[in-house]
Amino acid sequence: HRKYRPTPVISIADRQWPNNTISTTPQWCSVDLRDGNQALVEPMNVQQKLRMWDLLVKLGFTQIEVGFPAASQPDFDFVRVLIEEDRIPDNVTIQVLTQAREELIARSYEALKGAKNAIVHVYNSTSPVQRERVFGLDKKGISNIAIQGAKWVKEYAIRQPETNWSFQYSPESFSSTEIEFAVEVSDAVIAEWRDSGNPIIINLPATVECASPNVFADQVEWFCRNTRYRKDITVSVHTHNDRGCGVAAGELAVMAGADRVEGTLLGNGERTGNMDIVTMAMNLYSQGVDPGLNLADMDEIIAVVEHCTAIPLHPRHPYAGELVFTAFSGSHQDAIRKCLSKQQADEPWQVAYLPIDPADLGRSYEAVIRINSQSGKGGVSWVLENDYGLELPRWLQIDASRMVQARAEEISGEVTSAQIWDLFDAHYLQT
Ligand code: KIV
Ligand code: ZN
Repeated sequence: HRKYRPTPVISIADRQWPNNTISTTPQWCSVDLRDGNQALVEPMNVQQKLRMWDLLVKLGFTQIEVGFPAASQPDFDFVRVLIEEDRIPDNVTIQVLTQAREELIARSYEALKGAKNAIVHVYNSTSPVQRERVFGLDKKGISNIAIQGAKWVKEYAIRQPETNWSFQYSPESFSSTEIEFAVEVSDAVIAEWRDSGNPIIINLPATVECASPNVFADQVEWFCRNTRYRKDITVSVHTHNDRGCGVAAGELAVMAGADRVEGTLLGNGERTGNMDIVTMAMNLYSQGVDPGLNLADMDEIIAVVEHCTAIPLHPRHPYAGELVFTAFSGSHQDAIRKCLSKQQADEPWQVAYLPIDPADLGRSYEAVIRINSQSGKGGVSWVLENDYGLELPRWLQIDASRMVQARAEEISGEVTSAQIWDLFDAHYLQT
């Protein structure tokens, strides 16, 4: 029953790559249980983590970063529960974060013992500020840490051959790093890992979003064009939302060549959050690209995220907020009513002011129109027709909506469907 709004035709010359639209969905990696969790006032307990895990699996994520087990005992215990209780479907790969220190890498492998598929994710920071002010190291020192990290990950992987291992390297603060250096470090890490024969992901973070999303996309494109190993690697991005453009940066990065996107459900994560996978996935969906995630029960997603994070969802959050399929102004209501009455089930979605059919997210049309002092005749007649089967002549639409508006002004708020009926009944039917 899915109905897509046709992709707008943008008359830019036919460019293949980098592209000006997204035609295939990227790989998704949820970092709710790691980046999202580390940013909570009260981190999730094992029960909450399990509830989030079950939801992520149900939604269709096949790559899930589950924590930083070498740094946190609850994260270690959680990974053990997943493995020992056999909760990881065969098509799902778990990912753990670690720094490039041997004892932490060893502990990460201990946590992962018995996993079928796993990604060991090593990061170290590469930007000038971090190099000079935090670590007191030059470029050589920073790249040695990363290369040594790859060596250890490779050595420990050989000792646990029952697992299908992948390696992920993140030059943390990539977007604030000299791009030539980011490529140099990553290429050195890839060269170190390559003879293992196992897959490698290079994850490019906008650890702090500090430029507009097109600049980040240019950096990703430059990376893809200049690494010696483009064909041998998966290029991933990990964007944050400090300038409010985390999703835009993720989307432009995919257009610029990235294969994979890390983010969280509804955008939890450090500071202003990680990029919101729900929004990006629904943006793809609304343009006719199957995001490969089942987001049809938005209320369940919100309930689990709010339970696990204790952060209430903003009512205007894209696609998910309580108010996003409502229209308060009369002209919007009128346009929606006309479009809904003409919308055929088997044609692309073409309803003004509603980017998608709310039913595709488990929402219903009933909530679309609310009547307050800003509403015009269209809204009131829609309620009377939709909820009570009354088709009014034009003069009565105008008359009834004036009466309802006067009531809305009187009470300075919303007039419910039942109140509209009572007013209509008292005024026109009882007299
Ligand atoms: O934001 C970041 O850079 C991170 C890395 C660990 C990937 O979370
Ligand atoms: Zn992050």
